[in-house]
Amino acid sequence: MRRIHIFDTTLRDGEQAPGCTMNPREKVELARQLERLGVDVIEAGFPVSSPDDFAAVQEVARTVTRSTVAALCRAVRGDIEVAAQALKPAQKSRLHVFIATSDLHLSEKLCITREKALGMISDSVAYACTLCDDVEFSAEDATRSDRDFLLTALNAAVDAGAGTINVPDTVGYITPEEMGELIAWLKQNLHRKRNGEEVVLSVHCHNDLGMAVANSLAAVRAGADQVEGTINGIGERAGNAALEEVIMALDTRGQCYRAETGIHLRQIYRTSRLLSTIVGQKIPPNKPVVGRNAFNHEAGIHQHGVLKNPLTYEIMSPQTIGIYDNDLVLGKHSGKHAFTQRVEELGYTLPGEALEKAFTRFLALADRKKTVTNKDIEAIVGAAGYAIPETYRLHSFVVNSGTVISATAVVKLLRDGEEMEQVARGDGPIDAAFKAIDSIVQVGFQLVNYSIHSVTEGEDAQGEVVVKLRRGKRSVTGRGLSTDIFEASLKAYLNAVNKIIAQ
Ligand code: KIV
Ligand code: ZN
Repeated sequence: MRRIHIFDTTLRDGEQAPGCTMNPREKVELARQLERLGVDVIEAGFPVSSPDDFAAVQEVARTVTRSTVAALCRAVRGDIEVAAQALKPAQKSRLHVFIATSDLHLSEKLCITREKALGMISDSVAYACTLCDDVEFSAEDATRSDRDFLLTALNAAVDAGAGTINVPDTVGYITPEEMGELIAWLKQNLHRKRNGEEVVLSVHCHNDLGMAVANSLAAVRAGADQVEGTINGIGERAGNAALEEVIMALDTRGQCYRAETGIHLRQIYRTSRLLSTIVGQKIPPNKPVVGRNAFNHEAGIHQHGVLKNPLTYEIMSPQTIGIYDNDLVLGKHSGKHAFTQRVEELGYTLPGEALEKAFTRFLALADRKKTVTNKDIEAIVGAAGYAIPETYRLHSFVVNSGTVISATAVVKLLRDGEEMEQVARGDGPIDAAFKAIDSIVQVGFQLVNYSIHSVTEGEDAQGEVVVKLRRGKRSVTGRGLSTDIFEASLKAYLNAVNKIIAQ
């Protein structure tokens, strides 16, 4: 079996999706999980694009030890220098240099000739190699580039020292048949490295026509060694190839692709959920592999078959990707030791303070809820991981609402031990409570998104509220968990407010 390298770009290309921006702290949290998942490369950002991106790449580089950490840079020395600087703390780092090669991009976007582009490729890749042993070159819009020029450009990058050559289908235009043919042709015609080794040939597919996963798999079949993509397929426009789908296709149809990955499959579901929580975007129920319905059988005839033998209607088992039964795991009398052990079994390592916070939340939840499940614990642990300085904390609230009165809320917050209270009216009880918070904290921002979903099932299920606030060009996501949706809403709002204050 050939070993396929998995290059995750959730923190870079994925983050470019509308509403998916992550702050450095969130990126580090996700990078830790991506490392547990076992991806070969984590592309952490585009350091020259903003101070936040630089800080995020640097922080991820400091944290991650097993996966290679990559940073994106245009084919210019300034970008490459900044990216190398951000990657300095990494144990294993990669500079990812890119420039477009299609005539459309060269003439309309970059306003340069093919010759100029070739010069920039040779110069930038050679320069990157002086700063980092591991250099990847990407030809943006490769699939709409003139074939011969594409080959010339890629060979210029190999000759200058690039060890990985990436073929992006930037606008999701190619078909699986064309992709297979292109990759087989490149495999035959690409130069070898100076030491005689073959370069790693990679693909990076976008999903504009819904073919990103199929195109990535066709490339693997034709000889590609690396697949780039994102968790849950998030990314620009219609997104990138969903890595969990590529990985499970390679695993489930191993004999067909004759290829395997180094991924720890049991971490897939957790990674998908963590990302969804961080960016505040729900996973569509019918999403392959990780959607809520992916392993649900509605038709009686299917249920009957699955009960007799799951293989009748399941080509993969939910346990393979880390979905476990929603059984009772801990209760009100479970001690810290049992809680810590369960957290570790679920694959999380929390530093002291975050563990303390998570345990306190667990005790509070166990007091209110009859059964505390693994899903509850994951939600608690997730929330503890995003801990930020709590400038304002919720002390108490009262909401009053109905069809014949206008909604009012009284909210009391704590700041440095001082109690601060405000009353407000609003368009519904949650709006009223948010307005009361606004008049206490007096920070200007806009609420751009509010969503609520239940983390677990049953009458005493925990609700998770995610809010998005915008201040200027920046937006932050806040989360709140509670069995009471008002409380969850206020906690989420305060979490976002505290993030704005901490920025
Ligand atoms: O889609 C694309 O072309 C890219 C490159 C920068 C790799 O994301
Ligand atoms: Zn891309």
